[in-house]
Amino acid sequence: MCGIVGAVAQRDVAEILVEGLRRLEYRGYDSAGVAVIDHENQLTRVRRLGKVQELADAVEQSHVAGGTGIAHTRWATHGEPSEANAHPHVSGDIAVVHNGIIENHEALRALLQERGYQFKSQTDTEVIAHLVEWELRQSESLTEAVQKAAKQLEGAYGTVVLDRRDSSRLVVARSGSPIVIGFGVGENFLASDQLALLNVTRRFMYLEEGDVAEITRREVTVFDVNGVKIEREISESNAEHDAGDKGQFRHFMQKEIFEQPKALINTMEGRLGKDSVVVDSIGVHAAEILEKVEHVQIVACGTSYNAGMTARYWFEGIAGVSCDVEIASEFRYRKFVTRPNSLLITLSQSGETADTLAALRLAKEKGYMAVMTICNVAGSSLVRESDIAFMTRAGAEIGVASTKAFTTQLAALLMLVTGIGKQKQRIDAAKEKEIVDALRALPAQIESALKFDKQIEALAIDFADKHNTLFLGRGEYYPIALESALKLKEISYIHAEAYAAGELKHGPLALIDADMPVVVVAPGNELLEKLKSNIEEVRARGGLLYVFADEGAGFESDETMKIITMPKVSEITAPIYYTVPMQLLSYHVALIKGTDVDQPRNLAKSVTVE
Ligand code: M6R
Repeated sequence: MCGIVGAVAQRDVAEILVEGLRRLEYRGYDSAGVAVIDHENQLTRVRRLGKVQELADAVEQSHVAGGTGIAHTRWATHGEPSEANAHPHVSGDIAVVHNGIIENHEALRALLQERGYQFKSQTDTEVIAHLVEWELRQSESLTEAVQKAAKQLEGAYGTVVLDRRDSSRLVVARSGSPIVIGFGVGENFLASDQLALLNVTRRFMYLEEGDVAEITRREVTVFDVNGVKIEREISESNAEHDAGDKGQFRHFMQKEIFEQPKALINTMEGRLGKDSVVVDSIGVHAAEILEKVEHVQIVACGTSYNAGMTARYWFEGIAGVSCDVEIASEFRYRKFVTRPNSLLITLSQSGETADTLAALRLAKEKGYMAVMTICNVAGSSLVRESDIAFMTRAGAEIGVASTKAFTTQLAALLMLVTGIGKQKQRIDAAKEKEIVDALRALPAQIESALKFDKQIEALAIDFADKHNTLFLGRGEYYPIALESALKLKEISYIHAEAYAAGELKHGPLALIDADMPVVVVAPGNELLEKLKSNIEEVRARGGLLYVFADEGAGFESDETMKIITMPKVSEITAPIYYTVPMQLLSYHVALIKGTDVDQPRNLAKSVTVE
């Protein structure tokens, strides 16, 4: 995913464009660029490899002037991060920025080369520039040319086009990647996320799938997918300026729990086709690498390790690829054997965790086929040093207790598993569609899970005076139990353990008494009946149970067992969904206990020392 900003104004817009890119930088970028037209129709394009600051310095030095411009920060998919591959891309008088992936770029490239166009980059985006340039030759307006070009593009995109000869307008098209138009007074703006424009306007209009819009200083004209002029709703935003602002929430952790639907939408943006995962969106050369993978080794710490533990069930159960998961501080000091065609995956919110980074560096010496990171922070060490960086795009996570980073890691992992399964022909189209449908439904389902907040708050009172809590799960809910226990201990300081429920009778059953609540993650799956037997083992020994189950699971509350009934969701994504009530439980217990939720004692957000 990349970031787009555009402006049509009387005043110079370079600074506004660069500030917009800065606000989008959290999404993960490797190069950036702007193209601005001045009042004499001179086009200035500045592009830089690296962070937005590199571009900002270059723009300042070049004294870029002009009131109409487009800007972009890139996360490379087609073509390595380089100045030549950075946007805007130019064809004659046309300049273009683009988010997403043009799936038929190879066919279009061949066609355009036959027409005499010379390509200067390895990107899929450059085909848009040449295609619009070509269509403009036989069109009456830039808008018409963009509409004609859009009809030939397959894939997910949000794209903005300018014509050097006409500084009065920008034309934008949306299909699969969001575009928002921001309304000013005598000036108008656009971006891939309203966050980029919150310093210049609060009035926004979101384009819908297939829309093409023409933006001038005074007017915005929108055409739908059929080319029919249409009105789209304009709304006033009350979003915050600053990711570092808690807004209406009491704590960052609470804010970040509630941000999960949006964070997941960001994680998936441009990565899901209609019924498929867009493998190229995972990273440059991902398709070739994934096809060859015969073994996956995941290395991570803390919450990220728990995400890896969950994904192991998916790698083996869905993609049929063997998978080991190891805590980074163990992996780095163990004499391990590298299996043939092994992919090493590091998972990390920060991208700076010292043990995970050391494990990555070691793996590079030990003959892994490729090293990949699933990470939330652009430009972090893990991102820079990995062959493939699959960004989670959760947005800044400030609370020490990781929440949205975990659920977005899981969504990214599920897309990756599907990509591997597809490349290795281990899953069919029907299964791929089932996974894609489940992922697509997830943000709305999590939105509804958040409505259990009050019910869980009431439940939290039972835990606040306890010294120990046991979490149980089976299958992929065992790592969810691990993550739940980590969350509770981290912010409430209550000792919490997680066990695979089948292990109870091998020791932990000795702990059960009325002073230790037992939380069970129990959605319906093929292990539910076995889990019910484990629950009975606890009941028979006087334990107090809190069971999170879905409708139809057949549990009934009584004096020893409280049932929290959640709506049924796809079994594939249920581990992600069931994480949310667990996060809320920890949060509310910590609130009652009065601990420092966002900065729990002895911990730090980014563990950069061993
Ligand atoms: O940034 P990372 O994901 O690499 O961090 C790993 C752990 O330090 C981190 O997940 C930690 O366990 C969290 N505080 C858990 O909430």
